[in-house]
Amino acid sequence: MNIITDPKELQKQCAAWRRDGLTIGLVPTMGYFHEGHLALMGRARPLCDKLIVTLFVNPTQFGENEDLDKYPHDLDGDSAKAKSRGTDLLFTPKTTDMYEADHATWVDVPELGKHLCGASRSGHFKGVCTVVTKLFMLAQPSVAVFGQKDWQQLAIIKRMVRDLNIPVNIIGHEIIREPDGLAMSSRNAYLTEEERAAAPAIRKGLVKMAEMVKNGERNTEVIKTFLYNEYASALPIGTVDYIEIVDPDAIEPIEIITGPVLTAVAVRIGKARLIDNILIEV
Ligand code: PAF
Repeated sequence: MNIITDPKELQKQCAAWRRDGLTIGLVPTMGYFHEGHLALMGRARPLCDKLIVTLFVNPTQFGENEDLDKYPHDLDGDSAKAKSRGTDLLFTPKTTDMYEADHATWVDVPELGKHLCGASRSGHFKGVCTVVTKLFMLAQPSVAVFGQKDWQQLAIIKRMVRDLNIPVNIIGHEIIREPDGLAMSSRNAYLTEEERAAAPAIRKGLVKMAEMVKNGERNTEVIKTFLYNEYASALPIGTVDYIEIVDPDAIEPIEIITGPVLTAVAVRIGKARLIDNILIEV
């Protein structure tokens, strides 16, 4: 597995592969790999000739009071894991290589960023869209794989690619969970033992809520109140950032359920802000 840090070198390598008729698959990440990341690599591997994994903790998607400085990292461990999943090239640029001091161009999909994480993380998706566009321009992949845990991010990237005619097939991969149901996340590393033991209640609440919809409840205010109460009793050490029921593509809140909906939640537990979601097809 080759490791490249220079964006120009990545661009050169990818151009050479394309000239040789080879297809490129991309898995963008911020590192500290767990089984969720490795599943994205496993999904992309058979879909391309050359698999590129990018590892870049993108500063422009972090707010001022967020965890940019504390974001966990383990380059040696990540390199070994990426290699074990058949990655051909690991791209690990420095911030100064990705952003010139006078960087002035941004990509944004504000319509889909008004709710869920976009409501409390102003500028987050603008940073995500900009860096993902840059990675697409550098690698020019034919396929890119993103996790469904960040459902809003995935919906925004799909819309961005459609609207800007970027020739890449975006694949969303199912959420990978711990045996007790907690969605895998690099931020789970922030949890103390007590917090980790409580965290599976996030998923349990979502499953109970989905049952309620399957049993016929269609009013989302009633459903959200049920889930707020569920978290208040089963997860007292957590603070709910949001519970939203939205259209899965438009990420717009829904009042009465008449078709597929996504319930998405963000809960703060100790130093971690954890997100999860469930797609409900009625
Ligand atoms: O999902 C992530 O890890 C990041 O938002 C991404 C897509 C790698 C962009 O920095």
